[in-house]
Amino acid sequence: MNMIEGHMAIEAPENVPVWDVDPYDHDILRDPFAYYSELRSRGPFVYIPKYAILATGRYPEAREVFTDWERFVSSRGVGLQDFKLEEPWRPPSVVLEVDPPYHTKTRNVIARALSPKAIRALKDSFQQAADRLIDELLIKGTSEMVVELAEAYTTTVFPAAVGLSETDSRRLVDYGAMVFNALGPDNELRRKAMAQGPDIVPWITERCKRENLSADGIGATIYAAADEDEITLEEAGMLVRSLLSAGVDTTVTGIGSMIWCFATYPEQFDILKADPKLARPAFEEILRFTSPVHSFFRTVNVDTEVSGVKIVDGTKIMCSLGAANRDEQQFPEPDKFDIKRMPAGHLAMGQGIHGCVGQVIARAEVEAVSTALANKVGGIEFAGEAIWRPNHSIRALDTLPVTFHGKQS
Ligand code: HEM
Repeated sequence: MNMIEGHMAIEAPENVPVWDVDPYDHDILRDPFAYYSELRSRGPFVYIPKYAILATGRYPEAREVFTDWERFVSSRGVGLQDFKLEEPWRPPSVVLEVDPPYHTKTRNVIARALSPKAIRALKDSFQQAADRLIDELLIKGTSEMVVELAEAYTTTVFPAAVGLSETDSRRLVDYGAMVFNALGPDNELRRKAMAQGPDIVPWITERCKRENLSADGIGATIYAAADEDEITLEEAGMLVRSLLSAGVDTTVTGIGSMIWCFATYPEQFDILKADPKLARPAFEEILRFTSPVHSFFRTVNVDTEVSGVKIVDGTKIMCSLGAANRDEQQFPEPDKFDIKRMPAGHLAMGQGIHGCVGQVIARAEVEAVSTALANKVGGIEFAGEAIWRPNHSIRALDTLPVTFHGKQS
């Protein structure tokens, strides 16, 4: 068997166009929209020889592959590497990188800890933190919003909700970036991210221990399931690790992208200001429009067929969520940013059994910030160039200089 980037190198299936593109090219990672459009236009799937993978950017196929967990498994890794053939860099996630029936057990525990009821209790503290921070940024006028808003806010409210006794904004953000870069090819970007491991991983592991968590946070609720023998203590620690892997960089990106959207489309911010209750649908549209997780993989676990294409066991399929969320067959005028759209069915948080288990808390965090913006900020204006940071799975902002103008009284 020929291997490439930790998985079996397949040949192009019959009738699938071969496209000599590198989806991990930094120009594409920074500005992926022309790539998304061409990916959709070439067919339901393309074969990318550089990595010997299939990629899909059309909504129906991306959704089918992403949600049918029996044919397209997560247990063989949601990145380029096939865990059946190569050992992953860290013990796999006991929720993201497993299949039923094991997944059902761990998912129940983490879903209960992140349930709407559990998160409701956090809403007031999220709103107070958002109000305070937006007040400070208004006084300051111009700020670098990635660090001073998106990271500062998320790495305050989220670790407190989990119950971390000690927090470190830089390490939390870099850990997320590392986990998401690890899903891509063994290139300079990945190697640079992984080089941070010896500093960050032991710190994260320590933070996930029961004795380092408060008695009333989300982490403690997960450990309580171990007392009931629902999961082991080790699995509880791994689930807390999942919160820190998946809950920081994604939300930071969601908030950064929200500010970018409102600075780019000020008339849409005016609509939100006129009716702050639109915070919820506005975030759904921001998710669809920007797709913070641009792509994740599935591994084909049985010879199968999708849209007439025969696909063999062991094939890695890159599901381009960003491209599917701009598919005009699913979302009319997909390149129009419209906070009243209500884009039901978007894939930005996934769907099906692995659909984002943290979405309630992510929405609560981001809506608190958008509500504070709508109530307090008169205008949002770029104060310099917004720069996107290449990452193998996340489309994140690196720098976002923006001015907040006060409301005219
Ligand atoms: C804007 C913010 C967020 C975005 C865009 C996002 C996106 C996603 C996506 C696309 C998936 C599906 C993965 C797959 O099917 O392979 C997912 C799953 C997951 N997310 Fe999120 N996420 C966000 C916030 C969060 C937060 C705040 C947490 C933690 C509290 C979290 C924890 C998880 C976990 C643990 C999974 C795996 C669930 C499973 O496999 O059953 N996410 N997320």
